[in-house]
Amino acid sequence: MPFTIAIDGPAASGKGTIARALARRYGFHHLDTGLLYRAVGAKGGDAVAVARSLVPADLERPDLRSNEAGQAASRVAAIPEVRQALVEFQRRFAVQEPGAVLDGRDIGTVICPDARLKLYVIASDAVRARRRAAEIGADPAETLAALRERDARDSSRQTAPLLAAEDAITLDTTDMTIDEAVAIAVAEVEARRG
Ligand code: DC
Repeated sequence: MPFTIAIDGPAASGKGTIARALARRYGFHHLDTGLLYRAVGAKGGDAVAVARSLVPADLERPDLRSNEAGQAASRVAAIPEVRQALVEFQRRFAVQEPGAVLDGRDIGTVICPDARLKLYVIASDAVRARRRAAEIGADPAETLAALRERDARDSSRQTAPLLAAEDAITLDTTDMTIDEAVAIAVAEVEARRG
């Protein structure tokens, strides 16, 4: 049975960093599911048709990290048919041996409800904006506004909104270093690996 780890949370909460660290440590596959929505949004045109015909090369575009790509992703992510088109790919990815880490918004609630470990990663708005602005070289105030707009849309949509699964462990990274946050996540994995 592959070991699946679901990591959800708002934008720039640290979930991607934790996901990558866990994948590296355990030799698990890693999927940043936000990239799927970013790729659909960046391509433009009929979002449903784009989602249905997405290919790996679409995830390699260099412009997917920007605030604009994040906004476009958040908008197309509210379309139920777009989400539906991406479900199977994510579920297949999640059951690869020896394990997989997926990070996003609905991994623990919709994509992998049976994941062995579910983390819900949060951080204060100010810290998230500072981290993301530094990462992409954008203005912190503009980034804060963009994150808040995205979180509001992602949390209030009808289909698969941003939400902690009932059995998720919440990890608040506001005052943590990356190493501290990863150490807590590793301890949770170890507790479940037996
Ligand atoms: O994780 P991210 O910031 O790269 O995600 C970009 C957008 O994609 C996010 O604002 C909402 C959407 N998204 C989603 O709806 N479900 C996911 N599992 C991942 C991302």
